[in-house]
Amino acid sequence: MVSRVRHFLLKRSFQLFLLTVSFYLGGYLNGRENDNFREPEVFCIEKTMKRVESQSLLSLAIKYKPTKFFPYLHTGYHRFYERIFEPLRHKRIKFLEIGLDNGNGSLLWEEYFTNAEFHGIEYSNDRVEDATKKVHKFKIHRGSQENVDFLRSFKHKSGGNFDIIIDDGGHHFEHQVNSYKYLFLDSLKPGGIYIIEDIETSYWNGGKMYGREQYGGVNVSETTVMKFKQMVDVVNRKFHDNKFSVFGRVDHWVKSISFYQNVIILEKKDERDRPYDAHYIWPHSLKEPASKQGNEWSFGPSPFHGPDKDDPLWLRYRHARKEWQAKYGPHRVKQVIW
Ligand SMILES: C[S@@+](CC[C@H](N)C(=O)[O-])C[C@H]1O[C@@H](n2cnc3c(N)ncnc32)[C@H](O)[C@@H]1O
Repeated sequence: MVSRVRHFLLKRSFQLFLLTVSFYLGGYLNGRENDNFREPEVFCIEKTMKRVESQSLLSLAIKYKPTKFFPYLHTGYHRFYERIFEPLRHKRIKFLEIGLDNGNGSLLWEEYFTNAEFHGIEYSNDRVEDATKKVHKFKIHRGSQENVDFLRSFKHKSGGNFDIIIDDGGHHFEHQVNSYKYLFLDSLKPGGIYIIEDIETSYWNGGKMYGREQYGGVNVSETTVMKFKQMVDVVNRKFHDNKFSVFGRVDHWVKSISFYQNVIILEKKDERDRPYDAHYIWPHSLKEPASKQGNEWSFGPSPFHGPDKDDPLWLRYRHARKEWQAKYGPHRVKQVIW
């Protein structure tokens, strides 16, 4: 019996050795995982602070503490802005923020953008007073973001043509939508960035904000979130119906729309986008012919003012147009987008 056991152990010794090693190695690795789990870096405030000090927008957020950044857990927009703003940081740009509160946020922007012309819109007299005492570079315009007459005179006084517009004003979806429709079209530069903060209000349906009843919800058609969701089909409308629209004329200018947590960020088209407004080259791939969708290959009035003849994309487009004319007949390709 003893010799049979010895024989068995000798025969299987290598497998037994491997089994023992894997048992101890597994225990060791498991222990290391548990160690990491017990002390996650994200909860170690010292480490976090050290790391953020080296990141500029965050360090300014810690300095000025506006509610849109660290450590407010319903916002934290520095996570999205750093990447978008960094290329513009030292450029000569025009910057507009709606809603100034006590001016802390404006101080942050004054320090962050080193070469910008700053404008702010604020409707509360007290807030205008507070902010005026603090900020140095901001030109403050007193008025309401949903008053189109005021926005028109604002454009006249400020010269429009902004590179960045941030709506951190009334936050009610009527404020957000009304200002967007006017400012994106008329006061944002082609290629500019438009940001709507605090879209959480689209979901609010209890109580008042700035004296206005909240009646939001996930599928309430009037809300900012609900309206901007449809912009996905506006950006892609040449593939289904060129007349599809959510906000009217301004739709033509939307290059991209991104939803982040509590924020919408839109980009405005510029000259480089012109060729891609041309009609769709595979009409037979559409479910219904374009003519039945009521668009007859027409793009309506173009916001661009004529081709840039040196633009290589224009040259390529012109060449393609000839091909399409040969294929589909000139009557179908009659529109020129600019
Ligand atoms: C959230 S605070 C702005 C915070 C500021 N941007 C910052 O980063 O510190 C909102 C501001 O918008 C202003 N506001 C509210 N409704 C407005 C409206 N209809 N037009 C312009 N400003 C408005 C309020 O008075 C308030 O100062």
